[in-house]
Amino acid sequence: MFSIDAEEGIRVTSEKGSRKMQVFKNAVLRKCKRTESGTELYDLFVENGVFNRICPAGEVSLPEKAEIKDLHGRLVMAPYVESHIHLDYIYTMDPSVEAGTLFGAINQWSDSKKKLTVEDIKKKAYQGIEMEMRHGVQFIRTHVDVTDPDFTALRALLEVKEELKDIVEIQLIAFPQEGYYAYKNGDQLVEEALKMGCDVVGGIPHFEFSRELGEKSVRKAFELAQKYDRLVDIHCDETDDQDSKFVEEIATQAYYTGIGSRAAASHTCAMGSYNNAYAYKMMTKFRQSGINFISCPTENTYLQGRYDGYPMRRGITRIDELIAAGCNVSLGQDSISDPWYPLGNGNLIHQVDYAIHQAHMMSIPQLYKCLDMITDNGAATLQIQDHYGIEAGKPANLIELDAKNEIEAVRERADVLLSVHNGRILLEKEPSAIRIDLPIHGNDR
Ligand code: FE2
Repeated sequence: MFSIDAEEGIRVTSEKGSRKMQVFKNAVLRKCKRTESGTELYDLFVENGVFNRICPAGEVSLPEKAEIKDLHGRLVMAPYVESHIHLDYIYTMDPSVEAGTLFGAINQWSDSKKKLTVEDIKKKAYQGIEMEMRHGVQFIRTHVDVTDPDFTALRALLEVKEELKDIVEIQLIAFPQEGYYAYKNGDQLVEEALKMGCDVVGGIPHFEFSRELGEKSVRKAFELAQKYDRLVDIHCDETDDQDSKFVEEIATQAYYTGIGSRAAASHTCAMGSYNNAYAYKMMTKFRQSGINFISCPTENTYLQGRYDGYPMRRGITRIDELIAAGCNVSLGQDSISDPWYPLGNGNLIHQVDYAIHQAHMMSIPQLYKCLDMITDNGAATLQIQDHYGIEAGKPANLIELDAKNEIEAVRERADVLLSVHNGRILLEKEPSAIRIDLPIHGNDR
């Protein structure tokens, strides 16, 4: 239903801004009651691209002229939220270089980015966005490397953001990949990027030369966020070094500046290596500060543990303990075939699958809740709750999964069959069908 291309632009076959009535009927919503006789279904009424009524199926007769789509009791949710990706790095992996460590990848990128043009980056970013949207993403927060006096990547992504604004909402982070102070004039480049239109202030304190400079960079990020009224999202403690504790400074700054939940700490891998006494003390401070946490499970499993031998650490933050402490945690893809990670396809349900395995989060209540990490929790991190969610009065943004409930969705890594943005159908897919002839007569599981 949609295609996006850097040269040809967007093509969406369904109408934009239509005043027509639409009904998405027989949906399983995440709030549905489950009884022995089955799951309660809902009808979603949409007018002019906005939800105007959500009620139990059949309770209200369907308008005669409405466009009706029967969802046959499948799971319907607000769209996936990508809370951490680098759209300017997509498909920049150099197959001749074997990286495998965070710092090796940064060195490789530092050399290769000089050859990229605005057009190169736009083309690859479009491919990455399309890949994510094919899997149900409609909201993306991307870091953009601004340690480049020419701002090549930022100029590319500002154009992409504007060109695609009708079908996907993109937040840009002024991200100094090579540091505020480790890169010449990095702090000034971040500030300039905010003036050019970035929505979020980034940082990478564990890459600065010293602990003092790392802490100074975090303070600078919050100072800029206050000056320009922006959000904060900092790459933080992306290392197995148990002494990397810049997350302390993020929580401190968030708390004392009042920025609170408008700030996020990405990665925080070192938290997996902290001693428990310290980690438990910090959980209360994290909760008090209101900061969000973003984990990138596949990427950090690949990049971390590289210096361990065996036994080998998992490389991810304490997702389960943060959630239990009342903190908001979302998940991100991080990379699609770049110097940091050779795979990645933008399908966020894979991140959920990895996260719940690595964080031991498979109790039945946890399985029902785990999709929050790529939906509601991501929306909270991006601070888009005012227009996100399946509620009357909000934009009609939804996805339908090829599953009856959350557990089936995660177990099957369910396909997204339908993606609707402001009432406009962006993607529609038939459920997979297969003919089988196997001599098996087991239980219906
Ligand atoms: Fe990242």
